[in-house]
Amino acid sequence: MHVASVGVSKLCFLFSLVSCGLLLLLIPALQPSQRQGDLPQPRPAATDRDSADDGGKSGTAGPAAHRHAQKPGPASGLSGNLAGRGLSKETKVTEVGDRRPWRVAQSHGNPEEGSLPGDKGARVRGFRPRDSLATKDIFIAVKTTKKYHKSRLELLFQTWVSEAKEQTYIFTDGEDKELQTRAGANMVNTNCSAAHTRQALCCKMSVEYDKFIESQKKWFCHVDDDNYVILPSLHRLLSSYHHSQDVYLGRPSLDHPIEAAERVKSDGSVSVKFWFATGGAGFCISRGLALKMSPWASLGNFISTAEKIRLPDDCTIGYIIEALLEVTLTHTHLFHSHLENLQKLPTDTVLEQVTLSYGGFENKRNVVSVGGPFSLIEDPSRFKTIHCLLYPATDWCPRGDPRRKT
Ligand SMILES: *[C@@H]1O[C@H](CO)[C@@H](O)[C@H](O)[C@H]1NC(C)=O
Repeated sequence: MHVASVGVSKLCFLFSLVSCGLLLLLIPALQPSQRQGDLPQPRPAATDRDSADDGGKSGTAGPAAHRHAQKPGPASGLSGNLAGRGLSKETKVTEVGDRRPWRVAQSHGNPEEGSLPGDKGARVRGFRPRDSLATKDIFIAVKTTKKYHKSRLELLFQTWVSEAKEQTYIFTDGEDKELQTRAGANMVNTNCSAAHTRQALCCKMSVEYDKFIESQKKWFCHVDDDNYVILPSLHRLLSSYHHSQDVYLGRPSLDHPIEAAERVKSDGSVSVKFWFATGGAGFCISRGLALKMSPWASLGNFISTAEKIRLPDDCTIGYIIEALLEVTLTHTHLFHSHLENLQKLPTDTVLEQVTLSYGGFENKRNVVSVGGPFSLIEDPSRFKTIHCLLYPATDWCPRGDPRRKT
């Protein structure tokens, strides 16, 4: 009896040991992939709302950080079928939705005051506390060229730049006394060539990068001189991340990653695939990520990196971030360039976007469809109309706040 019960306990003990061993072996297999944890985690303001990844077609869809599939890993990037995003296990695409559920116009003027829906959820779910981002923490670089100082920049100064004078920097290629007076120290003559060549564009991006690093600001956003920046939307978007995270936000101009010969880390005999945010729609980079780009971007290194891969400025940014640093572009439809059909943007969502643009010489009618105080003839770009909808108290807005009219 006694002997038998000892035998049973021993058996039980052995059985427990084996079970524990098996469990230990299983744990790694049960854990979610590590890479997922590297992704920037938007605050639940973005995730709470819903999940429809509908490309802005539904009227109720809120923004969400959609994580599809996987990005090419460092070693596997070339083997996978990356032709369609989200089709392959090896392509990881992060995306923020195009719809913001809140009304931007309600909080115009002082975005810092607006509180994000979902703040409570942020604490409950153990996300980072809010970054308490101020508009002055965002460095906005506007790339221009001397020939557009009058025709394009003046409109920007009259509209959105007037609401963000302190943090908006103009990067140009020629002296202009008038612009200098208007922008003060925020006008930067890059001394780059005025030609629209890859070298000239990369030269400007290189100066933008260095100025941003010097500025100590939390976010670097690059836009073109035909972009309207909806500051409250930009502020909200960036507030859903932390500037110390690795964040690269923008709109891809292609529906597939670009492929380039790898000439930085290797001799060019292999190629890499990566996404990049199109410069014409604007993009933003967190300070944390910008600092990591330094070996390939600072003090003229950006130009040599671009020369090595022989790609334009915005592609080079994508190359450094996705291919070299292995940080994923967060795709967003809130940024817009003149290459899109801007008329297609639903009128009731226009003020919720982050950047807008307008058709150039080739397509003057390509503008956002928004009605307001100015006709198409008075305001062909629609920027004045948008500005008056966002900031009705502006003195030149026809139906402005009567208190501001004298
Ligand atoms: C451009 O040249 C001027 C005059 O030499 C100089 O003062 C300025 O710092 C240069 N700009 C940049 C961005 O290097």
